Amino acid sequence: AVELSLRPRYLAEYIGQSQVKENLKVYIEAAKMRKEALDHVLLYGPPGLGKTTLSNIIANELGVNMRTTSGPAIERPGDLAALLTNLQEGDVLFIDEIHRLHRTVEEVLYPAMEDFALDIMIGKGPSARSVRLDLPPFTLVGATTRAGLLSSPLRDRFGVVSRLEFYTVDELAFIVSRAADILGVEMIGEASREIAMRSRGTPRIANRLLKRVRDFAQVRGDGMITYELAKHALELIAVDPMGLDQIDHKMLRTMITNFRGGPVGLDTIAATIGEESQTIEDVYEPYLMQIGFLQRTPRGRMVTPLAYKHLGLPVPGEKNEDE
Ligand code: ADE
Repeated sequence: AVELSLRPRYLAEYIGQSQVKENLKVYIEAAKMRKEALDHVLLYGPPGLGKTTLSNIIANELGVNMRTTSGPAIERPGDLAALLTNLQEGDVLFIDEIHRLHRTVEEVLYPAMEDFALDIMIGKGPSARSVRLDLPPFTLVGATTRAGLLSSPLRDRFGVVSRLEFYTVDELAFIVSRAADILGVEMIGEASREIAMRSRGTPRIANRLLKRVRDFAQVRGDGMITYELAKHALELIAVDPMGLDQIDHKMLRTMITNFRGGPVGLDTIAATIGEESQTIEDVYEPYLMQIGFLQRTPRGRMVTPLAYKHLGLPVPGEKNEDE
């Protein structure tokens, strides 16, 4: 319940993603003026940047209900048909992980998105025929970490395609302060910056770190989040000053020790550190690339000199200053 209440409910409360936000504001207002359903919206980007939150906001701003499901949860076309026929005019249907829709389900979705129609087969054998059922106009909001994995017929049916970006430290510091207010915890401004800097551009991580720091403040302090307390707690939580956790460290160090910093293939990295390739690709790599610690080359991933320096390791081929 706390997690939900930390989430902004309207665009005016939503911090960051200014371009996406400004554009959505126009599209929402236009749809309301015309009394039409908003065009289908595809939100993509790394996990934790607010795709679900934005979808909720879209529904709130439109003044409609939102139904939530996910790609893998819709097993058969009938499951999707049940969801679609239960929508009211103008409602938002949110499909998370939309790149994981089954092909057979995806095909039912095409006419639903394009013509607000459901084609159902009735009967079997030679007497089987297809009937078309009208659906109320609705807005599909699809979310994915991997827009590249969407089939092009599906992708083409979204009128609005928005990519969410990592947040700046300033934006995250705002988000953390806002969350602290909601949680009713006192916090020094420098403490929210310290949490923001270690949140790898991601509000979900920022809010999670805030809650853990609050735990330390409550048990080891007097409840107030001072700068020293925040810094100490964050060290105990084992996120480094750039927000890298133990898995980031393991991945970078393994690439350096076992593969001379690369190039090395994704599946090889995954197997060596015992993580899923998909998790590395969706969760770990985007931020490491964003901060310039990792590069993708045609021959595989490479650790950059910046990452060596961050880990306190000598950069290969670079003269050591102590020599
Ligand atoms: N909480 C999580 N994400 C947020 C955002 N983008 N703006 C305000 N509060 C948030």
